[in-house]
Amino acid sequence: MPLVSMNEFLPKAKENKFAVGQFNINNLEFVQAITDAGIETNSPLIFGVSEGALKYMGIEYTVAMAQAAAAKSGLPIALHLDHGSTFEVAMKCIRAGFSSVMFDGSHHSFEDNIRLTKEVVKAAHAMGVSVEGELGTIGGTEDDLTVDEEHATLAKPEEAIRFWEETGVDALAIAVGTAHGMYKGEPKIHFDIIEAVTSKIPVPVVLHGGSGVPDDAIQKAIAAGVGKINVNTENQVACTTTIREVLAKDANIYDPRKYLVPARDAIKATVLEKIRLFGSSNQA
Ligand code: 13P
Repeated sequence: MPLVSMNEFLPKAKENKFAVGQFNINNLEFVQAITDAGIETNSPLIFGVSEGALKYMGIEYTVAMAQAAAAKSGLPIALHLDHGSTFEVAMKCIRAGFSSVMFDGSHHSFEDNIRLTKEVVKAAHAMGVSVEGELGTIGGTEDDLTVDEEHATLAKPEEAIRFWEETGVDALAIAVGTAHGMYKGEPKIHFDIIEAVTSKIPVPVVLHGGSGVPDDAIQKAIAAGVGKINVNTENQVACTTTIREVLAKDANIYDPRKYLVPARDAIKATVLEKIRLFGSSNQA
């Protein structure tokens, strides 16, 4: 199957109250692990690629790996730019074969965010590519960007509704209290904001910062109308902890496969848990 737009599965997710995981890819082992978990559960998948990861892997390798995963698995897989910062980077990804893009205009004024997101939507939709927008500022650290909790601002429901009406995005990330990276305490998620927005717009809300959110809070968020949940840090932790343990046990290892195979298994186990929790099994 070729890569697909998120519209292949997000409307169904919103209607049937499940969420599709966006699992960020960082290298080949992440792609293999996430795809294997998707095959085992028959789940749709979203490969998230941040601008930092894109720079690390190279755009040609990124698209080729995702296309290979979609062809091998037969699953509906969207290759999605995560937090795209400009119109240009979004277009570059679409030209290279991405089937979905996020334009994150949350650092601009509300009116500029609408104007810039609209431009991306117009171009992307003309090519059958889905678009995610963002409103409010999500705290935490992703790649080299850190937003401290003080500067993280929650989305206002009436603004989020107007943002959707004017831009026509296919999924809307709104700041509701989660943050990128691991949490020190328990995140306080504002389910009332999610519900106030999703009851008024036809597309699902996206929950960023899915790592470390307790299972019951995830389930409540899905019930409130979240249809896409982003997870990166937990998979990175699973990968790196495993590599550390394997190398600490045996100082004579030099073949990368000796630590990458268990690392890949650990990522797969984490993704399997998330897919089951999100309810996207057998929704491919
Ligand atoms: P975590 O790294 O906290 O899981 O967040 C991922 C994310 O939201 C990517 O956009």
